Amino acid sequence: GGVGSVAVALLARAGWHVIASTGRDGEADYLKGLGAAEILDRAELSKPGKPLGKERWAAGIDAVGSTTLANVLAQTRSDGAVAACGLAQGMDLPTSVAPFILRGVSLLGINSVTTPQTKRRAAWARLARELDLDKLASMTRRVSLEEVGRLGPEILAGRIRGRTVVEVG
Ligand SMILES: NC(=O)c1ccc[n+]([C@@H]2O[C@H](COP(=O)([O-])OP(=O)(O)OC[C@H]3O[C@@H](n4cnc5c(N)ncnc54)[C@H](OP(=O)(O)O)[C@@H]3O)[C@@H](O)[C@H]2O)c1
Repeated sequence: GGVGSVAVALLARAGWHVIASTGRDGEADYLKGLGAAEILDRAELSKPGKPLGKERWAAGIDAVGSTTLANVLAQTRSDGAVAACGLAQGMDLPTSVAPFILRGVSLLGINSVTTPQTKRRAAWARLARELDLDKLASMTRRVSLEEVGRLGPEILAGRIRGRTVVEVG
């Protein structure tokens, strides 16, 4: 999706080894083009897992919530951090305190809706510096306002990729 595509591009540009999760066959080339080093089948993360698993990543950006976020937390290395920004799988979070008290993992909430201007400007300035414009273009599709109605079912069915910008001018 849009959040995941931007996250992959930003983290890869910052030099991280990025593991991207997707439920779609055939998206490996797209995600590797954005900078992913490894692709994970999202089914591996969406089933209920153990309170703590093998430590697999230093940090996570989660747009999915529910058991996926619980598994991301359970497999985060000691003192790592996970940003929770979405609920594509669900609003629930069936986790335990184990990752927090046994590994010092932090869960960070993200809210871009009521963020004050000063914080927004700092974030936009970083995006302007750190997001590769060619990669941004490769993940973006532009549509007119008239096309939005038709696009809704496509989004819900998981048939669109990356970001969709609606031209209202
Ligand atoms: N907190 C904030 O400030 C903030 C800001 C923006 C967006 N959001 C939220 O972040 C989430 C992602 O936004 P987006 O614009 O990137 O949406 P999007 O373009 O619709 O992408 C969502 C992606 O999640 C994956 N997905 C869908 N259903 C899933 C499921 N059941 N289990 C696991 N993965 C699933 C799909 O990836 P694959 O098809 O590749 O598997 C899909 O492309 C949304 O919940 C949105 O409301 C929050």
